[in-house]
Amino acid sequence: MQIDTEHLHHWMRAIRQSPDPMRTMDAFWRGQIASKEWLIDNLMPSITNPVSVDIHGGWVGTLASMLFQSSTMIKYIRSIDIDPSCENIASTMNQIELEAGRFRAVTADMCDVSIDANIVINTSCEHITEEQYDKWISQVPENSLLVLQSNDYKIPEHVRISQNIDDFKNQSNLKNILYAGELELPMYKRFMIIGKKSL
Ligand SMILES: C[S@@+](CC[C@H](N)C(=O)[O-])C[C@H]1O[C@@H](n2cnc3c(N)ncnc32)[C@H](O)[C@@H]1O
Repeated sequence: MQIDTEHLHHWMRAIRQSPDPMRTMDAFWRGQIASKEWLIDNLMPSITNPVSVDIHGGWVGTLASMLFQSSTMIKYIRSIDIDPSCENIASTMNQIELEAGRFRAVTADMCDVSIDANIVINTSCEHITEEQYDKWISQVPENSLLVLQSNDYKIPEHVRISQNIDDFKNQSNLKNILYAGELELPMYKRFMIIGKKSL
């Protein structure tokens, strides 16, 4: 996908002004960006009406910015992260849409927020325990389209990885799966499911 220079300017500003620029740049590893492009390539062709989107575990707002640039169908994005340092960085990354009233970054535990969005994205499933996931998914509205990603990368902060896509399907427990796939990256495999909680 194409990143336009005006958005690129805000990406660079967000990195430069963040408390720990090297840490912020972790969001821009090739695998991180490739995983988000993969999500957009598989999600957006089916979106033909304007939608509101919740991104849970939204980190520094890279996916939000890429979604805004991928389609005019993205009406509004709320990006939620439990780490308070993410809010300012994500707001700067998405400055154009923030000023237009189309973006908001929120500091909160994804398990404790009420959800009212057409699409709910969680690309941080490897960062939450089974107990947290079960609580979180119970709060997602039945009619929301869900986009979930996890991976098989064993590091301490990944508290619940998946071995393969079938394992991730079992963990996710969605009854209506519209897409399930694996993306082979240099250091790990990324798994993605698009679907709904029930049929
Ligand atoms: C390393 S990042 C993102 C990883 C993921 N692969 C991605 O690219 O989206 C994981 C994020 O999840 C956030 N997070 C972890 N537990 C959370 C929770 N309970 N509620 C909200 N955000 C959470 C962390 O603060 C962090 O910013």
